[in-house]
Amino acid sequence: MRYYIFCATLLLSSKFLAQQQPVFKKEKICVIGTGYVGLVTGIGLAHIGHDITCVDIDAKKIANLKNNIIPIYEPGLKELLIPAVKKRDNSKQSLRFNTSIDHEIQANDIIYIAVGTPMSDEGHADLRAIEATLNNIAKNITTKKIICMKSTVPVGTCAHAKQTLIKKGVNPLLFDIVSNPEFLKEGTAVEDFLHGDRIIIGCENKSAGERIKNLYLPLINNGMKYLITNLESSELTKYASNGILATKIAFINEIAQLCNKVHANVQDVATGMGMDKRIGNKFLNPGPGFGGSCFPKDTKALEATMKKNNLDAHIVRTIFKSNEQHKQVILDRINTALENKENVAILGLTFKANTDDIRYSFAIDLIENLQKKNKNIKAYDPQGTDNMKQLFPNVTYCTSKEDAIKNADLIVIVTEWDEFKTLDLKTCAELCRTKCIVDTRNIFKPQELKRHNFTYFNIGNM
Ligand code: UDX
Repeated sequence: MRYYIFCATLLLSSKFLAQQQPVFKKEKICVIGTGYVGLVTGIGLAHIGHDITCVDIDAKKIANLKNNIIPIYEPGLKELLIPAVKKRDNSKQSLRFNTSIDHEIQANDIIYIAVGTPMSDEGHADLRAIEATLNNIAKNITTKKIICMKSTVPVGTCAHAKQTLIKKGVNPLLFDIVSNPEFLKEGTAVEDFLHGDRIIIGCENKSAGERIKNLYLPLINNGMKYLITNLESSELTKYASNGILATKIAFINEIAQLCNKVHANVQDVATGMGMDKRIGNKFLNPGPGFGGSCFPKDTKALEATMKKNNLDAHIVRTIFKSNEQHKQVILDRINTALENKENVAILGLTFKANTDDIRYSFAIDLIENLQKKNKNIKAYDPQGTDNMKQLFPNVTYCTSKEDAIKNADLIVIVTEWDEFKTLDLKTCAELCRTKCIVDTRNIFKPQELKRHNFTYFNIGNM
């Protein structure tokens, strides 16, 4: 008898548990914007089993994507794109590209907004692309939608978007807004999408938030953490996260400057600090200052939001400034090293390795500085040359690091590409005219540089 009661309880509880466990449901999603965020999100969601249409107003970009040509260099992305497109008609995966924004808004249940929010001249986020997208959405909502904000937007934007749609005559019962910020790093975005640290979801309507959470079920079942909160907390989590990461970098760069003055070794200092679990050892690599599409604009935007809320935020308002000052310190050091030298080799143009993105790269400040002084510049980067050519057509771009180094009086390492780390210093010494290196990424061991008779400057690494 006891045995039967036990079995019945087991059966009932497993049935109850089965009812509680969300099951994966393939959703029809339109991702607006095929920039870095939209593309990785769209391709990633297709990869985990959703029916995705990525839309953009840029017809050339869409035509290229239809031919599997990805507009950015992002390791592993093409490998996800091709099978997702191929299996379009298979029931498991689908991914298509389109310019018909109006039609796709009508045809899909979930609309991801992933358009750009660049830094405006005043330093806050420029939300014109968001406004234009909301206009499109307002014109095309006829059935119930979830509008999911993936773009990085200042706190309050989702609530404002809701009011904007209502003002444009959209019935509030026809839509829910959900915030779902992205935390992808360029160069490792695919890995971050599939195995990232967390998924943050902000919502007013819990069931809409749950539905967005369930999109990521394959990742959550694999161990990815998630947090469901309100719209504002979700929006702010993104800025606060980028703010603290940028602060860590700005801080270690200031410590590195001090190391240069007091004969300390920043690498050891960072290692020692990182041994404390409360501090952690990540994002403590000194360099030429943070760049990229997020940290500079998001720290400025966070500063603007603080100001807007009448807060005199001492830390936030100095993150960007500290970074700019650090870049100037390195430029000053390069200018000192430049004395009586004419030919400069720049190794690395991108803001970090494994990307072709040059936004806010130190290389831009460096080239501007060198051009003002009429120096001869030869530059090499494995991926970023085409982008930099558009900004500075008058630089000599080389197809190999050796070519760039040949006859150089000064070599400046800007980006930590693997192929620079393995540079043979003996060959390097033979190729260049004057043995002088400014290593802004500390990729070379000082003893090695000394052994090959280089004069050098690095970032706080004796
Ligand atoms: C960043 C955030 O990390 C990511 O979560 C967010 O979604 C987008 O912004 P990303 O800009 O791609 O990602 O690159 P990241 O690896 O964070 O580096 C940003 C800048 O900081 C680069 O210029 C990098 O070289 C610099 N950096 C990073 C350092 O100088 N030292 C470090 O220890 C880490």
